[in-house]
Amino acid sequence: MRHLPIVIAAVLASALPALAQTPASKPTAKPTVAPNSAIAPILAPGRTLLSTKEVMRHIVNPAAETFWAHSGVVDDEKGANDRTPTDEANWKLSMDSAAQLVEAGNLLQMEGRARDPNGPWMKYALQLTNAGVRGMAAALAKDHDKTFDAGSAMYDSCYACHGKYIVRPKDSLYRHDIDKDLEAAGKTPK
Ligand code: HEC
Repeated sequence: MRHLPIVIAAVLASALPALAQTPASKPTAKPTVAPNSAIAPILAPGRTLLSTKEVMRHIVNPAAETFWAHSGVVDDEKGANDRTPTDEANWKLSMDSAAQLVEAGNLLQMEGRARDPNGPWMKYALQLTNAGVRGMAAALAKDHDKTFDAGSAMYDSCYACHGKYIVRPKDSLYRHDIDKDLEAAGKTPK
């Protein structure tokens, strides 16, 4: 069992009481970045506290899962289930999770975390940011199709980066849907 580094535990402890008192915020705010704005990749200096794996596990994956759970149509026992939000509370979840992915793309471009600062890593990180920006715009517009498209764009960034950078031992028990799709396409990195 790994423990959180002390510094993070301290930050969390000081932030939690404040979080508990925060009143529910307004559901939507206009994103500061417009979709399709030409953002250049940047190797950002700074201090990384979490590993890439932790950023994936605790920030990128939960945010993406939340966004996906509020988009698209899935077949379940009751038939086609359209998960696109129909109320403010759920649109807020889409907006929040998309915003988290926008900045997560930046976290992946930080010195010490960017695995391959001169390679496609930066492009894929930016792809995640741009998909998040599209997600925010879709949530702001409360638009069904744009939400679905943003979710696909998010998925494409995971798929592209994992296909290039994650080498899994053959006997790995860990399987994400992304891995299964990569495997089916014969694109697992060697
Ligand atoms: C710029 C590259 C990049 C992008 C974009 C990216 N990932 Fe990752 N991801 C990685 C790398 C590298 C690892 C392996 C980290 C390690 O094991 O050290 C990883 C690992 C993971 C893991 C496994 C974490 C664990 O506990 O072992 C999950 C889950 C994950 N990513 C989900 C996602 C999802 C979902 C997306 C898209 C919304 C995404 N990733 C986008 C590079 C990326």
